[in-house]
Amino acid sequence: MTVPVNRQWILTARPRGPVDEGCFELRTGPVPEPGPGEALVRVVWLGFDPTQRGWLNEGDNYLDPVPLGEVMRGSGVGRVVASRNPGLAVGDWVAGMVGWQDYAIAAEDGLFGLNRVPDGVDPKAMLGVFGSTGLTAYFGMVDIGRPREGETVFVTGAAGATGSVAGQIAKLLGCKVIGSAGGPAKCEWAVGTAGFDACVDYRSEDLEARLRELAPGGLDVVFDGVGGAVLDAALANLALRARVVVVGGISSGYDGGEPPPGPRNYLRLGIRRARMEGFVFLDYLERFPEAFGRLGEWVGSGRLVYAEDVREGLERAPAVLRGLFEGGNLGKQLLRVADPEAVGAA
Ligand SMILES: NC(=O)c1ccc[n+]([C@@H]2O[C@H](COP(=O)([O-])OP(=O)(O)OC[C@H]3O[C@@H](n4cnc5c(N)ncnc54)[C@H](OP(=O)(O)O)[C@@H]3O)[C@@H](O)[C@H]2O)c1
Repeated sequence: MTVPVNRQWILTARPRGPVDEGCFELRTGPVPEPGPGEALVRVVWLGFDPTQRGWLNEGDNYLDPVPLGEVMRGSGVGRVVASRNPGLAVGDWVAGMVGWQDYAIAAEDGLFGLNRVPDGVDPKAMLGVFGSTGLTAYFGMVDIGRPREGETVFVTGAAGATGSVAGQIAKLLGCKVIGSAGGPAKCEWAVGTAGFDACVDYRSEDLEARLRELAPGGLDVVFDGVGGAVLDAALANLALRARVVVVGGISSGYDGGEPPPGPRNYLRLGIRRARMEGFVFLDYLERFPEAFGRLGEWVGSGRLVYAEDVREGLERAPAVLRGLFEGGNLGKQLLRVADPEAVGAA
């Protein structure tokens, strides 16, 4: 009989530039024992977010940096395989900040504790459409973009986890939706599967000119997670009183290096009396139930679709995070760490 071991990705140095596998070490140790009130969780899926690159930097961020010598922070879902907590039964699916490892110890408290996956929900959807990216799409679009029926909305990263959901929400609210994405296959998916009205391949097309053609009356809402030249093209095309939602700025690489110069078309905000506002989805903790309700209704009725890009094997975790900055993913980037069928049977 093989004795299970716990593999853990430990952060050993802070990368400069792109995610560097050499800054992590895959260590193997014993599977931890749950203490009183705790449960042992076999991690099955990990979810990847560009913001994890920012957590590797020293300095001010919305969360503390991952400390050197500790397991890399990351969201995931898994099954309870042993429990000393009456609220967590063996076989339960739970979601939370499990970290890059095979086994995590769970307590039942709060957002960064582990939360039971509701019955009937695909556990890995808790990392995407019902996780950080779906919640960001929902609150960023509904609360900050506030699109009105008939308005024109531009969404960057249209084939990514956040952008694809944000664009569909704007469609559900009665808007014309234009996306941008890297490459023809992603653009075809955004239009053909996610139902965007148009999608511009920002790598091969003149985005500023295409937006002028596609939105002659200007962009009422810009939902942007890219920044840089893509944001500039959008700012050049703002409608009067536009709302620019700052979701992120992945084109900067989140690597803590010298940031690129500010938006070239900044003045368009003034000329168009526009508003630009950033947020972090965690700001909306108290309203998560509202988002789960509406996202669940749209997914359940088939009016909101989502894609998942699944890689295999914990040993690939650093490379998978780096891949987000290379545009390798279509939809939510997931990593399968264990066979969901074989894990945690009571
Ligand atoms: N504010 C919040 O609370 C919050 C929460 C979650 C996510 N976010 C932000 O939302 C954005 C999307 O995150 P996600 O998790 O949904 O990732 P994602 O869009 O699924 O994946 C990242 C995508 O970014 C694009 N990209 C990578 N490098 C780029 C570059 N240099 N220039 C332009 N595009 C580039 C690639 O798509 P293409 O091939 O199309 O370029 C890549 O596939 C990120 O900015 C993220 O930080 C914010």
